[in-house]
Amino acid sequence: MGLLKSLFTNCANPQGRMGRAMLKFMNLCHAPLTNWGLKHIDFQDGWTMLDIGCGGGATLRRLLKRSDGSRVYGIDISEESVAKAKKVNEKALGKQVFVQQGSAESLPYEDGMFDLVTAVETVYFWPNLPGCFAEVLRVLKSGGRFAIMVEVVSADSKWSDLVDGMKSYSPEQLEKMLLEAGFVQTEIHRKKPTYATIIGTKK
Ligand SMILES: C[S@@+](CC[C@H](N)C(=O)[O-])C[C@H]1O[C@@H](n2cnc3c(N)ncnc32)[C@H](O)[C@@H]1O
Repeated sequence: MGLLKSLFTNCANPQGRMGRAMLKFMNLCHAPLTNWGLKHIDFQDGWTMLDIGCGGGATLRRLLKRSDGSRVYGIDISEESVAKAKKVNEKALGKQVFVQQGSAESLPYEDGMFDLVTAVETVYFWPNLPGCFAEVLRVLKSGGRFAIMVEVVSADSKWSDLVDGMKSYSPEQLEKMLLEAGFVQTEIHRKKPTYATIIGTKK
């Protein structure tokens, strides 16, 4: 595998030294997209929130800061991501922040547990996206919101050739899938150059 391909494939499932380097890098370079995307959420105090594909845990920290007295859960398929997210959230770990290994396909949480679920730069890697969206719907409270943030916004993006296991979607495709999964009041927000936030609400 070429070095570049190996580097980017560590976005899909960070592993080893290269994975750790990617997690550090992603914590920094996904900050502008995440901070912008979260502006579309009207945060309330005391929320219970989940970040799926939490990577190095920077989004967990951001969520915690936006809602006083909140509890924030992170889940990621990669052991390396889980370790980094725990380290980055060390002070609040086990008190307000809870991180575990697992997949979006089968979320180890009770029905109706979350006020907000986020997914930053990760849905490209989820298998069976309709099934994953059904899982997100299940774990949301009634009125709870699911915010997907992406920087790759074209269904035929060249990134899919560079990164093993990656499938890119347009915001409209993601919105359609949200509606088909049963979400309502969907919204698409865009910002140059290629930022998009797609939001769905549970009835
Ligand atoms: C490009 S990174 C983004 C990480 C983080 N959200 C951020 O913005 O920096 C994608 C993350 O999604 C995780 N991931 C991939 N497939 C997943 C799945 N099926 N369920 C949960 N996490 C997954 C990867 O392990 C990786 O940590």
